[in-house]
Amino acid sequence: MSEEIETKRIKITAPGLIEKKARGEKIVMLTAYDYPAARLADRAGVDVILVGDTVGIMSLGEKTTIPVTMEQILHHVKAVRQGVRFSLLLADMPFGSYQISVEEALRNATALIKEGGAHAVKLEGGRPVLESIRRMTEAGIPVVGHLGLTPQSYHTFGGNKVQGKDEAAATQLLEDALALEKAGAFALVLELIPASLATQVSQSLSIPTIGIGAGSGCDGQVQVWNDILGIYPGKPLRHTKVYAEIGEATERAIRAFADETRAGHFPTEENSL
Ligand code: KIV
Repeated sequence: MSEEIETKRIKITAPGLIEKKARGEKIVMLTAYDYPAARLADRAGVDVILVGDTVGIMSLGEKTTIPVTMEQILHHVKAVRQGVRFSLLLADMPFGSYQISVEEALRNATALIKEGGAHAVKLEGGRPVLESIRRMTEAGIPVVGHLGLTPQSYHTFGGNKVQGKDEAAATQLLEDALALEKAGAFALVLELIPASLATQVSQSLSIPTIGIGAGSGCDGQVQVWNDILGIYPGKPLRHTKVYAEIGEATERAIRAFADETRAGHFPTEENSL
Protein backbone atom coordinates (compact mmCIF):
# COMPACT_ATOMS: atom_id res chain seq x y z
CA MET A 1 0.00 0.00 0.00
CA SER A 2 1.38 3.45 -0.91
CA GLU A 3 2.29 5.96 1.81
CA GLU A 4 -0.40 8.35 0.49
CA ILE A 5 -3.22 5.77 0.81
CA GLU A 6 -1.87 4.70 4.20
CA THR A 7 -2.09 8.19 5.67
CA LYS A 8 -5.77 8.40 4.55
CA ARG A 9 -6.71 5.22 6.37
CA ILE A 10 -8.89 5.40 9.44
CA LYS A 11 -8.13 3.33 12.51
CA ILE A 12 -10.64 0.49 12.79
CA THR A 13 -12.66 0.44 16.02
CA ALA A 14 -15.48 -1.68 17.45
CA PRO A 15 -18.14 1.02 16.78
CA GLY A 16 -16.57 1.55 13.34
CA LEU A 17 -17.25 -2.10 12.48
CA ILE A 18 -20.93 -1.75 13.45
CA GLU A 19 -21.10 1.34 11.21
CA LYS A 20 -19.56 -0.65 8.35
CA LYS A 21 -22.41 -3.17 8.65
CA ALA A 22 -24.97 -0.35 8.63
CA ARG A 23 -23.38 0.99 5.41
CA GLY A 24 -23.37 -2.49 3.86
CA GLU A 25 -19.55 -2.63 3.69
CA LYS A 26 -18.04 -6.11 4.03
CA ILE A 27 -15.58 -6.67 6.88
CA VAL A 28 -12.27 -8.50 6.41
CA MET A 29 -10.74 -10.45 9.29
CA LEU A 30 -7.56 -12.51 9.08
CA THR A 31 -5.53 -14.34 11.70
CA ALA A 32 -1.90 -13.43 12.35
CA TYR A 33 0.42 -14.88 14.95
CA ASP A 34 3.59 -12.79 14.70
CA TYR A 35 4.98 -9.34 13.86
CA PRO A 36 5.76 -9.78 10.13
CA ALA A 37 2.35 -11.32 9.44
CA ALA A 38 0.57 -8.54 11.35
CA ARG A 39 2.52 -5.87 9.48
CA LEU A 40 1.62 -7.37 6.09
CA ALA A 41 -2.05 -7.85 7.01
CA ASP A 42 -2.31 -4.29 8.34
CA ARG A 43 -0.60 -2.87 5.23
CA ALA A 44 -2.93 -4.94 3.01
CA GLY A 45 -5.93 -3.23 4.62
CA VAL A 46 -7.33 -6.05 6.77
CA ASP A 47 -9.97 -4.62 9.15
CA VAL A 48 -9.50 -7.04 12.03
CA ILE A 49 -6.36 -9.02 12.84
CA LEU A 50 -7.23 -11.98 15.03
CA VAL A 51 -4.63 -13.66 17.20
CA GLY A 52 -6.70 -16.83 17.14
CA ASP A 53 -6.19 -19.84 19.33
CA THR A 54 -5.55 -21.58 15.98
CA VAL A 55 -2.00 -20.43 16.80
CA GLY A 56 -1.85 -23.74 18.68
CA ILE A 57 -2.38 -25.69 15.46
CA MET A 58 -0.73 -23.38 12.92
CA SER A 59 2.38 -22.29 14.83
CA LEU A 60 2.76 -24.64 17.79
CA GLY A 61 2.00 -27.98 16.13
CA GLU A 62 -0.97 -29.00 18.32
CA LYS A 63 -3.84 -31.11 16.92
CA THR A 64 -6.60 -28.89 18.37
CA THR A 65 -6.90 -25.42 19.94
CA ILE A 66 -7.59 -26.91 23.37
CA PRO A 67 -4.03 -26.93 24.84
CA VAL A 68 -3.42 -23.22 24.09
CA THR A 69 -2.70 -21.21 27.24
CA MET A 70 -3.12 -17.56 28.25
CA GLU A 71 0.68 -17.19 28.33
CA GLN A 72 0.92 -18.38 24.71
CA ILE A 73 -1.85 -16.09 23.46
CA LEU A 74 -0.33 -13.14 25.34
CA HIS A 75 3.10 -13.88 23.85
CA HIS A 76 1.67 -13.82 20.29
CA VAL A 77 -0.60 -10.80 20.90
CA LYS A 78 2.44 -8.81 22.06
CA ALA A 79 4.30 -9.74 18.87
CA VAL A 80 1.32 -8.96 16.61
CA ARG A 81 0.66 -5.56 18.19
CA GLN A 82 4.08 -4.40 16.98
CA GLY A 83 2.83 -4.73 13.39
CA VAL A 84 -0.62 -3.18 13.84
CA ARG A 85 -1.26 0.44 12.88
CA PHE A 86 -4.80 0.67 11.52
CA SER A 87 -6.41 -2.75 12.03
CA LEU A 88 -8.37 -3.71 15.11
CA LEU A 89 -6.34 -6.22 17.13
CA LEU A 90 -8.60 -9.01 18.42
CA ALA A 91 -7.29 -11.58 20.90
CA ASP A 92 -8.86 -15.01 21.32
CA MET A 93 -9.52 -16.14 24.87
CA PRO A 94 -8.06 -19.66 25.10
CA PHE A 95 -9.88 -22.71 26.49
CA GLY A 96 -10.01 -22.59 30.29
CA SER A 97 -9.44 -18.83 30.51
CA TYR A 98 -13.13 -17.87 30.73
CA GLN A 99 -15.11 -21.04 31.54
CA ILE A 100 -14.29 -21.36 35.25
CA SER A 101 -15.79 -18.15 36.64
CA VAL A 102 -16.91 -14.70 35.54
CA GLU A 103 -14.15 -13.18 37.71
CA GLU A 104 -11.45 -15.26 36.04
CA ALA A 105 -12.86 -14.45 32.60
CA LEU A 106 -12.75 -10.75 33.44
CA ARG A 107 -9.20 -11.02 34.82
CA ASN A 108 -7.94 -12.80 31.70
CA ALA A 109 -9.74 -10.47 29.28
CA THR A 110 -8.23 -7.52 31.18
CA ALA A 111 -4.74 -9.02 30.79
CA LEU A 112 -5.18 -9.41 27.03
CA ILE A 113 -6.12 -5.72 26.74
CA LYS A 114 -3.81 -4.23 29.36
CA GLU A 115 -0.72 -6.42 29.12
CA GLY A 116 -1.13 -7.74 25.58
CA GLY A 117 -2.29 -4.54 23.91
CA ALA A 118 -5.33 -6.12 22.23
CA HIS A 119 -8.26 -3.84 21.34
CA ALA A 120 -10.94 -6.50 21.89
CA VAL A 121 -11.33 -10.14 22.94
CA LYS A 122 -13.21 -13.09 21.44
CA LEU A 123 -14.76 -15.99 23.30
CA GLU A 124 -16.79 -19.02 22.21
CA GLY A 125 -20.34 -20.04 23.11
CA GLY A 126 -23.85 -18.79 23.80
CA ARG A 127 -25.77 -18.74 27.05
CA PRO A 128 -22.91 -19.86 29.35
CA VAL A 129 -20.80 -16.78 28.47
CA LEU A 130 -23.51 -14.09 28.61
CA GLU A 131 -22.69 -12.88 32.12
CA SER A 132 -18.97 -12.69 31.32
CA ILE A 133 -19.71 -10.63 28.19
CA ARG A 134 -21.92 -8.28 30.22
CA ARG A 135 -19.19 -7.77 32.82
CA MET A 136 -16.44 -7.30 30.23
CA THR A 137 -18.52 -4.80 28.29
CA GLU A 138 -19.30 -2.88 31.49
CA ALA A 139 -15.56 -2.87 32.24
CA GLY A 140 -14.83 -1.26 28.87
CA ILE A 141 -13.62 -4.38 27.06
CA PRO A 142 -15.11 -4.84 23.58
CA VAL A 143 -16.15 -8.47 23.01
CA VAL A 144 -16.70 -10.62 19.92
CA GLY A 145 -18.82 -13.78 20.26
CA HIS A 146 -18.30 -17.03 18.37
CA LEU A 147 -21.12 -19.49 17.54
CA GLY A 148 -21.59 -22.56 15.34
CA LEU A 149 -18.56 -24.80 15.35
CA THR A 150 -16.73 -23.63 18.46
CA PRO A 151 -13.45 -25.56 18.19
CA GLN A 152 -12.77 -25.48 21.95
CA SER A 153 -15.78 -27.86 22.27
CA TYR A 154 -14.08 -30.34 19.90
CA HIS A 155 -14.62 -33.28 22.27
CA THR A 156 -18.28 -32.40 22.90
CA PHE A 157 -19.00 -32.18 19.16
CA GLY A 158 -16.93 -35.30 18.42
CA GLY A 159 -14.83 -33.43 15.84
CA ASN A 160 -15.00 -30.34 13.64
CA LYS A 161 -18.56 -30.85 12.37
CA VAL A 162 -21.06 -28.51 10.73
CA GLN A 163 -23.45 -27.09 13.37
CA GLY A 164 -27.03 -25.76 13.29
CA LYS A 165 -28.21 -28.29 10.71
CA ASP A 166 -31.57 -29.29 12.20
CA GLU A 167 -34.40 -26.91 13.08
CA ALA A 168 -33.90 -27.09 16.85
CA ALA A 169 -30.16 -26.39 16.58
CA ALA A 170 -30.78 -23.54 14.14
CA THR A 171 -33.38 -21.95 16.46
CA GLN A 172 -31.00 -22.28 19.41
CA LEU A 173 -28.18 -20.66 17.46
CA LEU A 174 -30.37 -17.72 16.42
CA GLU A 175 -31.51 -17.24 20.05
CA ASP A 176 -27.88 -17.38 21.24
CA ALA A 177 -26.86 -14.81 18.63
CA LEU A 178 -29.60 -12.40 19.76
CA ALA A 179 -28.64 -12.95 23.41
CA LEU A 180 -24.95 -12.27 22.69
CA GLU A 181 -25.85 -9.00 20.98
CA LYS A 182 -28.06 -8.02 23.93
CA ALA A 183 -25.26 -8.89 26.38
CA GLY A 184 -23.00 -6.37 24.62
CA ALA A 185 -20.99 -8.29 21.98
CA PHE A 186 -20.07 -5.90 19.13
CA ALA A 187 -19.56 -8.63 16.51
CA LEU A 188 -20.08 -12.36 16.08
CA VAL A 189 -18.00 -15.03 14.35
CA LEU A 190 -20.17 -17.72 12.74
CA GLU A 191 -18.19 -20.88 11.97
CA LEU A 192 -19.25 -23.86 9.87
CA ILE A 193 -23.02 -23.45 9.75
CA PRO A 194 -25.41 -23.63 6.79
CA ALA A 195 -25.29 -20.47 4.63
CA SER A 196 -29.08 -19.96 4.93
CA LEU A 197 -28.88 -19.92 8.75
CA ALA A 198 -25.89 -17.52 8.70
CA THR A 199 -27.85 -15.17 6.43
CA GLN A 200 -30.88 -15.31 8.74
CA VAL A 201 -28.70 -14.57 11.80
CA SER A 202 -26.92 -11.72 9.98
CA GLN A 203 -30.24 -10.14 8.99
CA SER A 204 -31.56 -10.45 12.56
CA LEU A 205 -28.66 -8.59 14.22
CA SER A 206 -27.44 -4.98 14.18
CA ILE A 207 -23.89 -6.10 15.00
CA PRO A 208 -21.79 -7.59 12.19
CA THR A 209 -21.41 -11.32 11.64
CA ILE A 210 -18.06 -12.58 10.38
CA GLY A 211 -18.32 -15.97 8.70
CA ILE A 212 -15.94 -18.84 8.14
CA GLY A 213 -17.58 -21.72 6.34
CA ALA A 214 -20.91 -19.89 6.73
CA GLY A 215 -21.56 -18.60 3.21
CA SER A 216 -21.67 -15.16 1.65
CA GLY A 217 -24.64 -13.77 3.59
CA CYS A 218 -22.44 -12.78 6.55
CA ASP A 219 -21.31 -9.17 7.02
CA GLY A 220 -17.67 -10.17 6.66
CA GLN A 221 -15.35 -13.12 6.30
CA VAL A 222 -12.51 -14.46 8.43
CA GLN A 223 -9.78 -16.76 7.20
CA VAL A 224 -6.74 -18.34 8.78
CA TRP A 225 -3.36 -16.96 7.62
CA ASN A 226 -1.86 -20.37 6.84
CA ASP A 227 -4.94 -21.51 4.90
CA ILE A 228 -5.09 -18.62 2.41
CA LEU A 229 -1.32 -18.72 1.91
CA GLY A 230 -0.93 -22.48 1.49
CA ILE A 231 1.45 -22.77 4.43
CA TYR A 232 -0.10 -25.82 6.00
CA PRO A 233 0.53 -29.39 4.86
CA GLY A 234 -2.49 -31.35 3.65
CA LYS A 235 -5.57 -30.71 1.56
CA PRO A 236 -7.18 -27.24 1.87
CA LEU A 237 -10.58 -27.28 3.61
CA ARG A 238 -13.62 -26.58 1.41
CA HIS A 239 -14.38 -23.28 3.13
CA THR A 240 -10.91 -21.87 2.56
CA LYS A 241 -9.28 -20.54 -0.60
CA VAL A 242 -5.55 -20.65 -1.26
CA TYR A 243 -4.65 -17.22 -2.70
CA ALA A 244 -0.91 -17.92 -2.96
CA GLU A 245 1.21 -21.05 -2.56
CA ILE A 246 3.65 -19.49 -0.11
CA GLY A 247 4.41 -22.85 1.53
CA GLU A 248 5.68 -24.33 -1.74
CA ALA A 249 7.52 -21.13 -2.67
CA THR A 250 9.21 -21.10 0.75
CA GLU A 251 10.35 -24.70 0.42
CA ARG A 252 11.69 -24.01 -3.09
CA ALA A 253 13.62 -20.99 -1.82
CA ILE A 254 15.13 -22.94 1.09
CA ARG A 255 16.15 -25.78 -1.28
CA ALA A 256 17.79 -23.25 -3.62
CA PHE A 257 19.75 -21.73 -0.71
CA ALA A 258 20.84 -25.20 0.47
CA ASP A 259 21.81 -26.33 -3.07
CA GLU A 260 23.79 -23.15 -3.78
CA THR A 261 25.56 -23.34 -0.42
CA ARG A 262 26.51 -26.99 -0.95
CA ALA A 263 27.67 -26.28 -4.50
CA GLY A 264 29.76 -23.31 -3.31
CA HIS A 265 27.68 -20.86 -5.40
CA PHE A 266 26.57 -18.83 -2.39
CA PRO A 267 27.83 -16.41 -1.23
CA THR A 268 29.22 -14.72 -4.31
CA GLU A 269 31.43 -11.65 -4.28
CA GLU A 270 28.26 -9.55 -4.36
CA ASN A 271 27.15 -11.03 -1.03
CA SER A 272 30.58 -10.59 0.54
CA LEU A 273 31.89 -7.55 2.40
O1 KIV B 1 -8.82 -19.14 16.31
C1 KIV B 1 -9.18 -18.78 15.17
O2 KIV B 1 -8.37 -18.65 14.25
C2 KIV B 1 -10.60 -18.52 14.97
C3 KIV B 1 -11.06 -18.29 13.57
C4 KIV B 1 -11.08 -19.56 12.82
C5 KIV B 1 -12.36 -17.59 13.54
O3 KIV B 1 -11.35 -18.49 15.90
